[in-house]
Amino acid sequence: MVIRSTLILILMTVVFSLVGIQINRADDKEATAQQSVTSLPAPETKGKVSVEEALAKRRSVRTYSTEPVTLQQVSQLLWAAQGITEPTKGLRTAPSAVATYPLRVYLFAGNVKDLPAGVYEYIPKGHKLQLVMEGDQRTNVGSQPQMQTAPALFVYVADYTNTASRFGKDKAKEWAFVEAGHSAQNVLLEEVALGMIGVPMGGFDADKLRSTLKLGENQDAIYVVSAALKKE
Ligand SMILES: Cc1cc2nc3c(=O)[nH]c(=O)nc-3n(C[C@H](O)[C@H](O)[C@H](O)COP(=O)(O)O)c2cc1C
Repeated sequence: MVIRSTLILILMTVVFSLVGIQINRADDKEATAQQSVTSLPAPETKGKVSVEEALAKRRSVRTYSTEPVTLQQVSQLLWAAQGITEPTKGLRTAPSAVATYPLRVYLFAGNVKDLPAGVYEYIPKGHKLQLVMEGDQRTNVGSQPQMQTAPALFVYVADYTNTASRFGKDKAKEWAFVEAGHSAQNVLLEEVALGMIGVPMGGFDADKLRSTLKLGENQDAIYVVSAALKKE
């Protein structure tokens, strides 16, 4: 009887220990997932530069300061690209065909203050960054010199899945390119408003980006915009 009770006690101890280990593992996973999310500072919706001034001053610039850009600047530029401005329906700064939102914006951070170098996906809901890959990955964007010297690059990926399911892949592709134009112009004008510089780029390395970002068959990298400070 004593032996039986002892065996039951040992068995229960083992079971409870295993359950405890599993719970700890789940907690660890959640903690890791949370650590890979970076909350961005809230964007400003008022500035000192008028739209007319920004339009008049916008220019493609390819030579940059070596100074880092700040997380606040990156936050403002990502908001300009795809930030949510109408929370009920999730409508954004840039228009989207039938509000299907095929664009994903990836930040290739090489020299951003308070943000480790890496690739991050911008998550409009909650205005945050999701870490995709650690380390400076700017050489995987392409070989143009400003792709290596810009502290931050925004890579636009079109995911046709949602739009194509309703309008077919041809229309989905057409519209995604139009939307990238809208969004990139927002970023370029915001850069002027922030006293920053950059250039939109179609000459990126599509194959390297496909493998770096592990893009699926319904996804393409379609545009890149650099963000930097002016050279003194
Ligand atoms: C679709 C598109 C693709 C472009 N691709 C590149 C590029 O790969 N590299 C680059 O240095 N500039 C690129 N540019 C920038 C143009 O060279 C630039 O807009 C043009 O020379 C006019 O100058 P501006 O932008 O200062 O008015 C691109 C512009 C557009 C609209």
